[in-house]
Amino acid sequence: MSAQPVARLYLALANDLSAMIARGAYREGDRLPSVRMLHEERGIAIGTVSQALAELERRGAIEARPRSGYYVLPVHATARDTRASERATPVPLPHVTDDFVMASADAALLPMGGTVLSPAIVPVAALARIGRRILASQPDVLATYGPPAGDPALRREIAKRMVTIGVGISPDDVVITSGCMNAMRLAIGVATKPGDTVVIESPTFFAVLPMLRDAGLLVIEVDATSEQGIDLDALESVAEAQPVHAVIVSASIQNPTGAVLSDAAKHRLLAITRRCGARIIEDDVYGELYFGTQRPGPLAAIATAVDQVFYCSSFSKTLAPGLRVGYVISRGAHHALARAKLAHTIASPVLNQRIVAEFLGGGAYERHLRRLRHALAQQVASARAAIVQHFPRTARVTAPVGGFVLWVELEPGTDSLALYQRARQAGISILPGAVCALTPRFAHCIRISCGHPWTQAFDAGMRVLAGVA
Ligand SMILES: Cc1ncc(COP(=O)(O)O)c(C=O)c1O
Repeated sequence: MSAQPVARLYLALANDLSAMIARGAYREGDRLPSVRMLHEERGIAIGTVSQALAELERRGAIEARPRSGYYVLPVHATARDTRASERATPVPLPHVTDDFVMASADAALLPMGGTVLSPAIVPVAALARIGRRILASQPDVLATYGPPAGDPALRREIAKRMVTIGVGISPDDVVITSGCMNAMRLAIGVATKPGDTVVIESPTFFAVLPMLRDAGLLVIEVDATSEQGIDLDALESVAEAQPVHAVIVSASIQNPTGAVLSDAAKHRLLAITRRCGARIIEDDVYGELYFGTQRPGPLAAIATAVDQVFYCSSFSKTLAPGLRVGYVISRGAHHALARAKLAHTIASPVLNQRIVAEFLGGGAYERHLRRLRHALAQQVASARAAIVQHFPRTARVTAPVGGFVLWVELEPGTDSLALYQRARQAGISILPGAVCALTPRFAHCIRISCGHPWTQAFDAGMRVLAGVA
């Protein structure tokens, strides 16, 4: 067993324990052997054993009882698998997520996993030219931390753009971060304290789960569909039944469903959260990538209370994720956010911020976005057509109005984690839907990323993927 790659080792142990439960070797209510016993008996690292147990928790087969151990749940508990987790639940240890992030960066795989744009459609050469010019004329950018809240020129450029989308702020309200992820982590840190409850959309952007675990928060999942976005009736009843401290939501082009909230839904979402006192962490990282004629407006543009919405975004999905330049905006909480930024990272790389500031200031960004939206609309349409052509007719695929991911629902019973491994062996990276929720309710779904120009190789890859699905 120990000769297997680590990623498969924990799955092998999880499957083995699962089979023992199915055979009745462990029955409902039984305690499983402890992590240490499994480690000693099977000669598997403690971390790998813990990952296997977290996987079984995620499948709804066992539960962890603090200071006691892991217990087998009744078989019918897996009925929960089809629903979102309605009770506030701690997030289990990250499982396949780390492995997926590594696979997304593996240049040997056909890239349909990570949401990363091809260098062919982002202006890497222009950004590099600006970088060289800055380094030649102001080499001291490397010798300073820069202001903790961020480079003043970049904050000005971002504030100008925000005003054009209806968010009337000043540069002082902007705090520069290391990408949108860091923006959300700072916002969560300011809006909540450990032990608080956060509502997330289900399915969610997978990396939100380990982030909330890191912040020591409890999570409630609320259904989200590609047509309607977050289910506001469900959110309302959750908020009436228990305290909710924050809601993480993408109102404009959600990942992975692609949903855009209607204006009425945005107003209702703001009203529900205002009534229960929850802050909104708005993830608008795909907001600029609409295929239609009008940018979907952010929640931050219509919120009336100054600190109700923490608006988070970055340049990772429009320019270059490698720059790690993002931002968080709150009219009422920018001092707290700047303090949190200082505590987490002191400051952001000055060179990277200046590159983005110059690119924005010169008007090149707007021209680039126009080309990018056009390219992405075509790439998404081609990938969608290939899915429709190669996958069985029972597969359902979203038709997003922006962004660059497709969410594909396969036959119930499909194991997306196993499919992810088979695809990887066939040289293709995808995202298994299983990682997009706390329960295995999306275990039969996959996410296909369309960040690269469509070629024969992608068409052939989609055919192979359909063959191993
Ligand atoms: C919905 C969503 N939010 C946030 C991020 C993270 O963005 P960044 O790379 O700027 O941290 C991603 C990246 O995949 C994403 O898809």
